Amino acid sequence: MFITFEGIDGCGKSTQLELVEKFLIDNGKEVLTLREPGGTVFAEEIREILLHSHHTISKESELFLFEAARADLVSKVIKPALEQGIIVLCDRFYDSTTTYQGYGRGFDIQTIKIINNLATNGLKPDLTFFLNVSLETSQQRVANKLKDKIENSGDGFFKKIIDAYKILATEEPDRFVEINSEGNIQNTYEKIIEIIRKKLLINY
Ligand code: TYD
Repeated sequence: MFITFEGIDGCGKSTQLELVEKFLIDNGKEVLTLREPGGTVFAEEIREILLHSHHTISKESELFLFEAARADLVSKVIKPALEQGIIVLCDRFYDSTTTYQGYGRGFDIQTIKIINNLATNGLKPDLTFFLNVSLETSQQRVANKLKDKIENSGDGFFKKIIDAYKILATEEPDRFVEINSEGNIQNTYEKIIEIIRKKLLINY
């Protein structure tokens, strides 16, 4: 079972990921939690370049660096773990590329989907949670956080990202679940766990 978490900065992904990991472990599951870009030595190096280097990176280079990091993570870590029956949780996956590089930076969406598919060797998440918060809430929650290169892309960019995630939710309603994440942590957690219980047949 492969579960991914998506949304803009400040949507609460990392907090919910930790809570879901704990819930699954408490229910006797073996879990591996990862983040993108990252999760292998190679991918963590690419992460550093993408988010914190002083290089000027063209949008084409940015796209392929995300995909290179992803290809490494999928082949070395995610696929082997899934083959062993481990539940893999990932903070972001290819939907981030569809939204940020596709809708955000303006690449053709069908082309992005083909490149995503190439990088993952066809691997798709079984379930994706899109934690949706307004731009205003996002800004309030991350007001004191130091922004990385992509987070510095401006309000217009993030409006596009939110709309893009909503498009993905309508395109793939069985996999891509929109969760309103404006409320408190417990509220959002309960909505997520309800869906995970059903999917994994975990009783109350
Ligand atoms: P991170 O610090 O993990 O941000 P967050 O906590 O918001 O997830 O940095 C990841 C950044 O990279 C984030 O701004 C989104 C961006 N990103 C893309 O633009 N494309 C991608 O394919 C991925 C995986 C991330």
